Amino acid sequence: VPTLSLRELIKQQPMASIPEQYVRVDQEPSLAVDLDAASLSIPVIDAQRLTVGEDRDSELEKLHSACKEWGLFMLVNHGIGTSLLAKLKHEIEEFFKLPLEEKMKYRQREGDYQGYGQRLLSVGDEQLDWADRFYMITNPSYMTKPYLLPQFPPSFRDALEMYLLESRKLAKEVALSIAKALKMEEQEMKELLEDGMQSVSMSYYPPCPKPELVMGLVPHSDANLITVILQVNGVDGLQVKNKDGAWIPVNFLPDSFVVNLGDILEIMSNGTFESPEHRVTVNSVKERISIAVLFNVNLEAEIGPSTGLISPQNPPLFKRIAMHKYLKDFLSRKTIGKSKIQFMR
Ligand code: SIN
Ligand code: FE2
Repeated sequence: VPTLSLRELIKQQPMASIPEQYVRVDQEPSLAVDLDAASLSIPVIDAQRLTVGEDRDSELEKLHSACKEWGLFMLVNHGIGTSLLAKLKHEIEEFFKLPLEEKMKYRQREGDYQGYGQRLLSVGDEQLDWADRFYMITNPSYMTKPYLLPQFPPSFRDALEMYLLESRKLAKEVALSIAKALKMEEQEMKELLEDGMQSVSMSYYPPCPKPELVMGLVPHSDANLITVILQVNGVDGLQVKNKDGAWIPVNFLPDSFVVNLGDILEIMSNGTFESPEHRVTVNSVKERISIAVLFNVNLEAEIGPSTGLISPQNPPLFKRIAMHKYLKDFLSRKTIGKSKIQFMR
């Protein structure tokens, strides 16, 4: 039986063994490569250089190669104030510390995936992540839930709303830079992003006595345009699968975000960029907390390979479809992980 809160479950009774529904017999361990050395090669992009100054072109080239080789990069010099980030981090930590009956006010309602609880499980994937998760859609407003963000403790709501705004501006700049790097019409990206969908996923990964048996977050690629991840308490655990199929730890630089490309960007770039598979591992000592903001195009927009990128030599690899229809199809798929996007071929 899925528990609502792993955090509270662990607090109540020290675990003699890992409950079966958390044991991931199906997951590949990290390969025995020099993981710390490998993690050093994860690209670092300077957000300010992307938009102004004489280094712009070289930073755009760096961005292109980061998107092509990894589909994921660290973003520094991003301009989001340290005091806002400090406040936000503090509020998220406090949120997960709230008594269970307080968090229950935000619990996932029957048949819905917004709220406090578990990651939305794919059909055929009944195993649980070693995490408590809070997911909610924050735009468009008709998809938001009145019992979630509006009912947050006011100081948390203020910090989160501010962060949603600031990160939206940043994500838009990054998406426009990616369009530029791809030699897409910037206007096309601008229009798609108009009133784009936005959602937020906050995760609490407790320490696990047998971390090698569980997954904080099962391997997947994101079904949106781009995702901006902030690590809340300085504990690493995110891993990305590189082009050789090795799981490489993503060790966040201080004050950086991790940005990863989603399936929609893979489709728009006609496969030039790929959405990377990523997962979260946990450790036996420290809890880990993160907040990911997922940005997407407008739900009414039609997605497909950008017309400027296709030619007789580069035929379209994906179908065109309305974004809301894509999501509906996506949610009905049985598979987890990268294979999900295949239905668009
Ligand atoms: C993810 O949202 O895929 C990962 C978030 C995290 O680093 O915990
Ligand atoms: Fe993700």
